[in-house]
Amino acid sequence: MLETLFTPNPEAEKPTPIRPRKGVIIGAGQVGMACAYSMLIQDCFDELILQDVAKDRVEGEVMDLMHGMPFLAPTDIKAGSVADVGQDADIVIITAGAAQKPGETRLHLVERNVAIFENILKDVVKYCPNAILLVVTNPVDILTYITLKITGFPSSRVIGSGTVLDTARFRSLLGQKMDIDARSVHAYIIGEHGDSEVPVWSTANIAGLKLIPDNWENLSKNEQEELEAIYHQVKNAAYDIIKLKGYTSYAIGLATTDIVKAILRSQERILTVSSLLTNNYGIKDVCLSIPTVVNDRGILKTVNISLNETEKQKLQNSAKLLREVFDSLNL
Ligand code: 2OP
Repeated sequence: MLETLFTPNPEAEKPTPIRPRKGVIIGAGQVGMACAYSMLIQDCFDELILQDVAKDRVEGEVMDLMHGMPFLAPTDIKAGSVADVGQDADIVIITAGAAQKPGETRLHLVERNVAIFENILKDVVKYCPNAILLVVTNPVDILTYITLKITGFPSSRVIGSGTVLDTARFRSLLGQKMDIDARSVHAYIIGEHGDSEVPVWSTANIAGLKLIPDNWENLSKNEQEELEAIYHQVKNAAYDIIKLKGYTSYAIGLATTDIVKAILRSQERILTVSSLLTNNYGIKDVCLSIPTVVNDRGILKTVNISLNETEKQKLQNSAKLLREVFDSLNL
């Protein structure tokens, strides 16, 4: 009956099959659902699977999102697992794990979340051997490194959300202070996504104009305190939000979506994602964030931005701290 609604074009040719963009989000908690919602609105995937141990909740989340589809470009969203997505999954996004409680640091989560990852990753390797793995769960740098070690995937295909969110917070606070669009502020937070993260003041700029013309010491005490205050607001943002609403979600969802778009559209974007450093600034065999070029096969290359001695020292301290945490796990 439905075919009578249409008049076929006699010369219509068979459509060229396009390979659907396929994603899986493992973990349908606050962060996972913020990622899913943002990725639907920004039309990232053709097929998106949400995986969670809480089967009823993830079914409910999928139903709720599906009912919004008429307002969006179509995405085939399902509750399921990596076993359902098939060997051609593009990206597996991992948000599963315990989240910080008020007063906890991200590193406090390490033992709990390593155990969860050891369980999750077995099926990821089995069912999605060609996917790019995007780790969001904290402590994200440690878990990115662990994902790399457990899966044995090439380091180009194991990415952590890293300090992409911190860099966004940094740019947005600097933009507010100078009353300009945060997208016009070029400034990075590098290192650990955590308490040892490093603000790169020496090259921070707007339209090529450095925010700190020559060096930090020449700033007045008041200027130094103002800039330090911005850094501390960035570094403590998650603690402040968790104290108020119990968790963070929307901004990390948008940050993760930005990384997914850079991959799926092979944008060669420069993002401060967390990845394995091989010999950058004297740092190797640890995952942390420096400006990195991301394309459809993951990590293409890192950018050797110039750091002053203080920044280099702080980055090396961040790497040392992460290395010590990983070594303490005796994996
Ligand atoms: C954040 O920075 C908790 O890592 C999360 O919002």
